[in-house]
Amino acid sequence: MSSSSHHLAVHLPDFAVRLIAWQQKFGRHTLPWQGTSDPYRIWLSEIMLQQTQVESVIPYYQRFLARFPDLHALADAEEDVVLGLWSGLGYYSRARNLHAAARKIVQEHSGEFPRDLSAIESLPGIGRTTAAAVAAFAYQARCAILDGNVKRVLTRVFGVEGWPGEKTVEAQLWGLAESLLPASVPLTSQNDIRSYTQGLMDLGATVCTRGRPRCNVCPFEDDCVANMTGRQRELPTPRPRKNVPERAVAMFVLVCAGEVWLEKRPPSGIWGGLWSFPEGAEESAPEAMAAHLGFEIESCRELDGFTHTFTHFRLFIRPWLVFVRRSTHVMEPGCIWLPLSDIEGAALPTPVRRILQSLVF
Ligand code: ADE
Repeated sequence: MSSSSHHLAVHLPDFAVRLIAWQQKFGRHTLPWQGTSDPYRIWLSEIMLQQTQVESVIPYYQRFLARFPDLHALADAEEDVVLGLWSGLGYYSRARNLHAAARKIVQEHSGEFPRDLSAIESLPGIGRTTAAAVAAFAYQARCAILDGNVKRVLTRVFGVEGWPGEKTVEAQLWGLAESLLPASVPLTSQNDIRSYTQGLMDLGATVCTRGRPRCNVCPFEDDCVANMTGRQRELPTPRPRKNVPERAVAMFVLVCAGEVWLEKRPPSGIWGGLWSFPEGAEESAPEAMAAHLGFEIESCRELDGFTHTFTHFRLFIRPWLVFVRRSTHVMEPGCIWLPLSDIEGAALPTPVRRILQSLVF
């Protein structure tokens, strides 16, 4: 809990010194955005790295810089050209925000990338961690970062309990991250904020990984709460599983001559007004349903069951595929025979569509 993490933080007063020494010896030093203090290049790398792995980013980063070597080139570009260079990286709002931010810097900061942390943070697409990373790498500002990798490192080393997505836990981690920053004097390579910031990222990406952390090569091997207590798999605490009630139903997919029998659901309640299958209690048999509806069964088989999750409950669906004869059957209002070739445009609940698609394809 919070008291223990603060307690332990006191016992690792050399956290920054050791992390920096580790980074300088074992960290990454040849990434294309290292060895520059150009905030534009650092900013671009941090945006590309937000949701994308290093190896995928590198060729995009180099093509992007070849086309837009500085902030003015980017600000002057057409958005389509920027998006074109982003094509394949995904999360395109990153590219739109990047472009918008470049134009904002030209208009509001005379084309000079801002130095002030809060000014950086107020640019489109830049959150607290990205702003801090740019300020640290470009200006050697002593700002804390806290991305997913850093949260994993800190919760493990300091034994911080609770889901990091929780506001109080996140606030606690920011406090911890601030408290661990290297001293600002004397300015030597031993308290270099760039090595420190990169060290947190490198440790999270190469040693303190989610799946199989390599604790035997970690500089905090002998101090890490998770390693000492064998709880690497339990920290960080996962998002709490919502304990929602579960219901189960049988659904009957009545098929005849390439058409499926659907009933319009009542306007209120789940799937109000959509077309769905006749339902029964979980254990109900196709024979009873067919008799009730006035069909004669030709053959039937049970399909694979699955769970559909709503906000407030989970529905376990046991679907039955039932081939019926309909010669003797009388249509009722609110029911249709829908050709299987027409399911695409029909107003169907997701699990109904899923079942029908599994039959058609
Ligand atoms: N992920 C986010 N920022 C990074 C950086 N500067 N180097 C490597 N991976 C990163």
